[in-house]
Amino acid sequence: MGKSPSGPRLFAQEAAEFSNRLKIPELIDGTPAGNARQFQLTLQQGASTFLPDTVTPTLGINGDFLGPTLHFRQGEEVAMSVQNLIGEASSLHWHGLRVPAIHDGGPFQQIENGATWTPGFRILQRAGTYWYHPHVFDKTGEQVYRGLAGLILVDDEESQQLDLPSNYGIDDIPLIVQDRQFNEDGSFRYMADYRDLVMGSHGNVILVNGTINPIFTPSTKLVRFRLLNAANARTFTFAFSDGREFQQIASDGGLLENSVNLEELELAPGERAEILVDFSNNQNVTLVSLSRGPNFPVFIGAMSEMMRALNTEGFDLLAIHPQTTLADNGQSPDSLVGIEKFREEDAQNTRPIRLSMGYGQRSGEDRGPGIGARNGLGGGYGGGNHVINGRKMAVSFVNARIPLGSTEIWELSNNSPMMHPFHVHNGQFQILDRNGQPPPLNEQGWKDTVRVGSGEELRIIMRFDDYADNENPYMYHCHILEHEDLGMMGQFLVVDE
Ligand code: C2O
Ligand code: CU
Ligand code: CU
Repeated sequence: MGKSPSGPRLFAQEAAEFSNRLKIPELIDGTPAGNARQFQLTLQQGASTFLPDTVTPTLGINGDFLGPTLHFRQGEEVAMSVQNLIGEASSLHWHGLRVPAIHDGGPFQQIENGATWTPGFRILQRAGTYWYHPHVFDKTGEQVYRGLAGLILVDDEESQQLDLPSNYGIDDIPLIVQDRQFNEDGSFRYMADYRDLVMGSHGNVILVNGTINPIFTPSTKLVRFRLLNAANARTFTFAFSDGREFQQIASDGGLLENSVNLEELELAPGERAEILVDFSNNQNVTLVSLSRGPNFPVFIGAMSEMMRALNTEGFDLLAIHPQTTLADNGQSPDSLVGIEKFREEDAQNTRPIRLSMGYGQRSGEDRGPGIGARNGLGGGYGGGNHVINGRKMAVSFVNARIPLGSTEIWELSNNSPMMHPFHVHNGQFQILDRNGQPPPLNEQGWKDTVRVGSGEELRIIMRFDDYADNENPYMYHCHILEHEDLGMMGQFLVVDE
């Protein structure tokens, strides 16, 4: 047994009994239609019971809260039919998939209330865990908060050779982790205060697959968990209450080359990981999120206080009580798949991406990296601007035109006082370095969302192989959804001049 996880833990739900059986979203395979498989999704209004004796108005996809897990296979064609009945415009974005821009479900593919959108695409992805959620201007955060999100599970032949636990709902378990706040009448409390506006919406109640105080009772010795941080803004540091080691086998865009032994794993909003956990000792254990110590320097003023409080809360996420007899199942291989590494010398272009939050009279001003206080890291906050390269998202401004087939290095920097998870549409990138060092082993695979901490510098490399479209853009943005809604987003075209 490993040593105890580091750092203090606060248990926001300490008194609670974890006795609600973990819900498992239905896995749907679609129905054959011509040479494609067709998936019917309806964005709808619902009602859910999370707290005792209260009903929470929610949104869901084909149900009351969250949506089914879509099962795709590499190489096949899928035909999606997305009907919007939520009472306002929405959209549905396939996070992590490489699809034509017009089918990406970003803010320019809005689905009006009552309308049906029918994108179709080939599954080019490696086996892995992806997800879908709305992506409308100004409303993404709120719609996801109310319940619009679901998982995508892609299979391929290479992964099937590995004998990993892959019996969905039995030893292959999705965990969609979210935090929420409730009003007294049971309704969700969204964007309750100024703190939420600045740092994104944080809650004090955890939902896993829409289950409050959940318990899972494994029937097998080995379990694969597919972790999705689907919170609007909160970063989780996953660990087990007894400090046991687990193996991370996949990052955002699929399997790693080798499994990585970990005792804790940090995932920001939008990030995914697949982990293998051994329950053969039959011990009860709790999946937790560890509290982080305050790591923001003390300045005078409310902003500094706020930043220091960020992610200092720990939570119990999921009680795990293995059954008495556990079946032998699957393998936990050290070596997983080959990954073609993008090479720095193959890049045609390097693009700086500076993440900033201006608060104060100089709010949003971007004077480039390293120009001291007032450029984000220091004091003097008080307005509200989340920007990339000094700009907010503007509908009519294309931030980048990228030639089809090219490879680019994006230099990410963050001169703001908090971490921003940076996400790029249309595929997966690799991290060249994090603050000049090779990234940790579990960040050496495919990524589409990456944590850029305050003051950090990262270089990512990406190849734009597919789907030129000189008119329809893809998005890149901070995946703290309130930041995205406030304009911390840009658009790029993949062009074939
Ligand atoms: Cu998960 Cu642009 O989004
Ligand atoms: Cu995305
Ligand atoms: Cu952000």
